Amino acid sequence: MSKQLVLAISSSPSPTSKTARVADYVLQRISEPTLMTRHIRLRDMDPEALISAKSSHVSVARTVTAIEQADGVVITTPIFKASYSGLLKIFLDLLPQFALAGKAVLPVATGGSVAHLLALDYSLRPVLQSMGARHIVQSLFVPESEMQVVDEQLRIGEQTDAMLNEAIHHFKCSVGATTEDRFLGHPRPVRNA
Ligand SMILES: Cc1cc2nc3c(=O)[nH]c(=O)nc-3n(C[C@H](O)[C@H](O)[C@H](O)COP(=O)(O)O)c2cc1C
Repeated sequence: MSKQLVLAISSSPSPTSKTARVADYVLQRISEPTLMTRHIRLRDMDPEALISAKSSHVSVARTVTAIEQADGVVITTPIFKASYSGLLKIFLDLLPQFALAGKAVLPVATGGSVAHLLALDYSLRPVLQSMGARHIVQSLFVPESEMQVVDEQLRIGEQTDAMLNEAIHHFKCSVGATTEDRFLGHPRPVRNA
């Protein structure tokens, strides 16, 4: 049986992004012999291609292909002004309408205020749903105050880490439940693929 692919997308413009560290942390926890993992940092994509919505540009086309091939996608974002990042919005707008068809999705945010954890569910989740996601598991919010970087290693506070483990378990079950029929009831970009 071929290995399943889990992709993490991180969407902070910061070169020292805490969100990107959380994405790596999640992928490390997800890692097992039956899964391949990959992290795509949107800030590394060609900025001109992103801003001009050039979906034919190699940098965009490669990322779209990676998403097509993924069985599960971890979408991570910092919360900016009570919503998901503008970089993530630009990227999602570039994708085909049903780019997430058949996939399990785990939304994760980092932010300064837990008062904004709702942003994941009221602003991001409906967009992911409309892109055909098969199953969007419980969103996870990692408060800045719960993160520490020690010797280049991310440490997450005990309580949030326990919630992260639960979300990861839920997500892995959903990825593992993928069957030949995973597109049933969901539109997908190419019906005869
Ligand atoms: C311009 C700006 C706006 C922000 N707005 C919010 C906000 O509305 N709610 C919140 O909880 N955190 C907010 N934050 C805090 C970030 O979400 C937090 O620092 C996050 O962990 C940054 O992730 P990054 O290091 O990956 O960019 C904001 C930060 C910046 C720079």
